[in-house]
Amino acid sequence: MPLVNTTEMFKKAYEGGYAIGAFNVNNMEIVQGIVDACNELKAPVILQVSGSARKYARHKYLYNMVMAAVEETGLPIALHLDHGSSFELCKDCIDSGFTSVMIDGSHLSFEENIELTKKVVEYAHAHNVTVEGELGQLAGIEDEVNVEKTSYTDPGQVEEFVSRTGVDSLAIAIGTSHGAFKFKPGQKPELRFDILQEVMDRLPGFPIVLHGASSVLPEYVELINKYGGQMDDAIGIPEEMLRKAASMAVCKINVDSDLRIAMTAGIRKHFAENPKHFDPRQYLGEGREFITKVVKHKIENVLGCAGHAFD
Ligand code: G3H
Ligand code: 13P
Ligand code: ZN
Repeated sequence: MPLVNTTEMFKKAYEGGYAIGAFNVNNMEIVQGIVDACNELKAPVILQVSGSARKYARHKYLYNMVMAAVEETGLPIALHLDHGSSFELCKDCIDSGFTSVMIDGSHLSFEENIELTKKVVEYAHAHNVTVEGELGQLAGIEDEVNVEKTSYTDPGQVEEFVSRTGVDSLAIAIGTSHGAFKFKPGQKPELRFDILQEVMDRLPGFPIVLHGASSVLPEYVELINKYGGQMDDAIGIPEEMLRKAASMAVCKINVDSDLRIAMTAGIRKHFAENPKHFDPRQYLGEGREFITKVVKHKIENVLGCAGHAFD
């Protein structure tokens, strides 16, 4: 099976009441760690690349690693641009083999967001590439921009946005946020399920995306803290909330921070237990195993997409 776009994946996920994991990739160990987990559990997957990941690892390297994963596993894999910041970047990714792009116009006015998203959709659809748009704005750090406060999605805008742009999926802001420090210590994690429900009522059958959806699993944070790190205040989205979202209209759940935390925990543990090691294959190998472990955990405990690769 070649790379796929997100159309079929989302249709099945919506009908099946589960979500597809969209995991950020930056290097070979991360790609392999994710794909090994998906292969073992027969899970469809979205591998996503941010603008800064593309600069770091370079397009050809990431693209060919993802193609190797497709060839090795035969899994349905979509290669997605995360937080596309311009038409030009989206076009470049479409022209060079991505099967899905996000155009993130969430910081623009409603009309400007529509105009930019529509332009990307027209180009993408002519190339069989699916497009994710965003309405509302998440808090947190993303591509060096720090957004202080969530601007919740206004459900009253979603039908007009989707019909005027033609987007295939929509990211909404309901209280998730980017990074590992999503809530202040003592603050009760809360998501606005009322907004998600209203969006669902207004857009029946339409796939919704949750960014900033890492759970910040204590098992990994504890290892980081035990071995010299300082992540005491890290707080993520409770898993039961993500499960609830996945059973509703949310078909794509974005995870980056949980991968970063797991890999860092694995590497810190490795060095603490093997202070004489200096072969990158040894510590990166343990980092890769930690990625596989956390992705399996996500598939089984949050996403519910195990076994759906070849439905
Ligand atoms: O939402 C942003 C992702 O976590 C990607 O982060 O731009 O540091 O690669 P990055
Ligand atoms: P996290 O920081 O919660 O992993 O979110 C990642 C994300 O939304 C990538 O677009
Ligand atoms: Zn994001």
